[in-house]
Formats: sequence, structure tokens, C-alpha cells
Amino acid sequence: MSAFSDLAAVDYDERIVARVPGYRLGQQLAAAILANRLGDGTHVLVVGCGTGEDLVALVRALPVTDFTAIDPSAGMLARAVTKARQYGFANRVRFEQATAVDAPRETYHAALASLVLHFLRDDGAKAAFLKAVADRLCDGAPLVLIDPTDASLFEDDYRQWMIGQGLEVEAADNVMTRVRKDWFRATPERLADLVTEAGFEAPQVFFTALGYRGVVARRIRAS
Ligand SMILES: C[S@@+](CC[C@H](N)C(=O)[O-])C[C@H]1O[C@@H](n2cnc3c(N)ncnc32)[C@H](O)[C@@H]1O
Repeated sequence: MSAFSDLAAVDYDERIVARVPGYRLGQQLAAAILANRLGDGTHVLVVGCGTGEDLVALVRALPVTDFTAIDPSAGMLARAVTKARQYGFANRVRFEQATAVDAPRETYHAALASLVLHFLRDDGAKAAFLKAVADRLCDGAPLVLIDPTDASLFEDDYRQWMIGQGLEVEAADNVMTRVRKDWFRATPERLADLVTEAGFEAPQVFFTALGYRGVVARRIRAS
């Protein structure tokens, strides 16, 4: 199970910016891309919303859009709900404790999955995740993914970047151990294949940073 623990939720917001290069930029670009492609009265599915950091960027960029935000982790979701109340956007978001495959069966105008897919094995789980999202999108709907892809050439640089962000050497090494042991990073080519096989046009890359990749792909008409 790839749902985050309650413990992981506690200091996620402080930790993530020093562990994901371009974390804020990726969220802002994703929000701008969706804002540029969506009209008023639209409904966006946010898959694996975590503590709601991606929602904060989205609600700012899309002021008249509604959202359904799902995450299997109760701890992460609770933080997202609290944040939505604090920032005054709770009335625009329906929160559900769910994975992608059991997301509410509605038709959405777009979807975002930021930093989720790499937790799933490429044994059918990644494909099922993407297919579940595709099944819930209308024709032409954009899917934005932010995902760490396989970047073995940059691994030492990634470790060095985290140390530069203030992580102790031991903490950076622990991250690298988890990256190698617990993450299932697809190559950029495999990620593109998975997206197209799930029913999307070839994904366009809008962001890369030490292997982290932002892509956007349009849902092809379901046959
Ligand atoms: C690294 S966090 C990303 C949170 C947020 N999207 C962000 O960019 O900060 C990954 C989140 O994905 C959730 N998750 C794991 N497996 C999932 C699945 N199959 N479907 C939806 N969410 C999942 C975890 O519980 C966790 O909250």
C-alpha cells in the first residue's frame, strides 16, 4: 500500500520543498497549464492530493473551478481539509479518502497527479492508475503528471542538491536509500508509453529537474 502514514503527514510541507527540486515551480506550472486550458464551471480531479499543497496552487490559478481531491491517507487528507478551511477554499473541494482506482465515478474536465505514480509498481498498477483517471475524464481533458523518472546519471547531483537545501548528509543518504528501494521510477520513454496506452495523446514535457518530470497529455475520445 502506497498511502502515506499519519506520521509522514506531520511535517510533509516543510520536508517536501527540500526533497523535490522545483517542487513549488512544478505546482505553479501545473496550475498555470490547467488554468490556460479550462473554462469556467469546470471540475478538476486531484489524485493523491496529500496535504493539499497542489490544491493551494490550483485554487489560486482557477478561481471559479471546483475540485474533487482524493488520497488514501487519512493523515494527509486531514491536513488538506484543515488547509482548505484555513485558506477559505473548502467550499470548492470535495475530499474523498480513495485511491485513483476507487475515485468517485464522475466526469472531470482535467486531472492532476503530483508525485504519486512513482509509488506504484510497473506491474499493471501504474497502468491501472492511469486508466482509472482516463476513464473519469471527458474527451480532450488535460492530465498533468509530475513524477520522478529514472535518472541514475543525476543521483549524486540529487543528493548534493538536498544537502545544499540544508539536509544533513545522513538524511540525504536516507532519502537516496528510499528512492532506490521504495520508488518505482519509470524511464521518461516508459512514462510516455504508459500515458498513451491509458488513452491519452503523447505527453508534452513542461518541466524537468534532476529526473523530476512534468508532463501534460490530452484525453483521446474514448472508443
Ligand atoms: C508525495 S505525496 C504527494 C502529495 C501532493 N500531490 C504533492 O504534490 O505534494 C503522495 C501522495 O499520494 C498518495 N497516494 C499513494 N498511492 C495513491 C494512489 N494509488 N492513488 C491516489 N493517491 C495515492 C499518498 O497517500 C500521498 O499522500
